Amino acid sequence: MITVLFAAPDLWGEYSDVLPQALAEAGITAQVVQEADSGTVDYIIYAPSAPLQDFTPFVRAKAVLSLWAGVERIVGNATLTQPLCRMVDPSLTESMVEWVVGHALRHHLGMDAHIVNPDHRWIPVAPPLARNRPVTVLGLGALGTACAQALAGLNFPVTGWSRTQKTVPGVRCLSGEDGLRQALTGAQIVVTLLPRTPGTENTLNAGTLALPARGAVVLNPGRGPLIDDEALLAALDAGQIGHATLDVFRVEPLPQDHAFWAHPRVTVTPHIAADTRAESASGVIAENIRRSEAGAPLLHRVDRTLGY
Ligand code: NDP
Ligand code: OXD
Repeated sequence: MITVLFAAPDLWGEYSDVLPQALAEAGITAQVVQEADSGTVDYIIYAPSAPLQDFTPFVRAKAVLSLWAGVERIVGNATLTQPLCRMVDPSLTESMVEWVVGHALRHHLGMDAHIVNPDHRWIPVAPPLARNRPVTVLGLGALGTACAQALAGLNFPVTGWSRTQKTVPGVRCLSGEDGLRQALTGAQIVVTLLPRTPGTENTLNAGTLALPARGAVVLNPGRGPLIDDEALLAALDAGQIGHATLDVFRVEPLPQDHAFWAHPRVTVTPHIAADTRAESASGVIAENIRRSEAGAPLLHRVDRTLGY
C-alpha cells in the first residue's frame, strides 16, 4: 500500500473520488490522504494553492506531481529535493487549442465588427484567407506544438519558436535569439506559450513588439511576465499592436485599476485558457505513479536548472 498525499485542500472535492479510482484502475494499491505522517508519504500531489512549502520532512517521497503545467511557483523551492513532474494532459492541451484557435479566428475573421454593430453598418469587406495570415507561436512544448499544428491545419502559415531546435510537421521551426527575430518579423498573430523562467521574462518587449506586422494581434495564454506590460500598452496606443487578448497576468486576479481592463483593444480572460480537469489529470498522475512503482522513468520531469 502506497501513500499519496493530496496537498491542495481547495481541490480535494474534485479529486477525492476520481484520483483513488484512477489509481485502482492503474493497478496501484494506494491510500490518497490529505494528512499523513510525513515520513510515510510516497508521492505528493501539488498545486500552487498548496500550503505545503517545506518538503524536507518527506524523506521517502519519490516524486512531487504538479496539477499545473506551469511550475514557476515551486521549481525554485530549495527544500524540494524530490523529482518534480509537471502536468501534461490531453484535456489541458485540448482546451488550450480551443482557446488559441477561437481567439485567433475572432481576430482573423474580424468578428467583433459584426457582433457589435449598433449603427447597422454594411461594410462588405471579406477577411483574407488563413493562408495569407502568418501566425507565430512562441513555445513549442506540449501546448504550443498542439496549437501550432491546429492553426496550421486551418491553413495559417505557422512559425514556431523554442529554446532548442524542433521539427514539427507543417510548422516552420526556429530557435535562438536570431530565430526569435525571424519568427516575429511580419507575424500577424503572435501566441505566447512559454513557461515563466528568468530566460523568458519580457520576451515581448518594446524591441520585439516592433517586429510583427503593423496591427498584429497578441494572444497570451502563457504567463503574464512573458510580456512587458508597459511596452505592450505603448505598442497598442501606437497602433503597432492592434489587439491583445490576455489570459494571464503578473498579478492575478488582474487588479481592478490595471490599464488592461479599460483598454479598448485589450481582451482579458481570467486565466481560463486551459483548466486541469480532475478526471483526466488523475489518469495522468496514476500512470506516472504506476511507472515509478515499476521502476520506469517518470514522465514530464521538470529540469530544475532550466526552470520548466
Ligand atoms: P512545455 O514545457 O512543454 O514547453 C515549453 C516550451 O517553451 C518549449 O518549447 C521550450 O523550448 C520553450 N522555451 C522555454 N524556455 C525558452 C526560452 N528561454 N527561449 C525559447 N523557448 C523557450 O510547456 P507547456 O507547453 O506544457 O506549457 C507552456 C506554458 O503554458 C506553461 O508553462 C504555463 O505557463 C502555461 N499554461 C497556461 C495555462 C492557462 O490556462 N493559461 C494552462 C496551462 C499552461 P524547448 O522545447 O527547446 O525546451
Ligand atoms: C497551469 C495553468 O499551468 O493553469 O496549469 O496555468
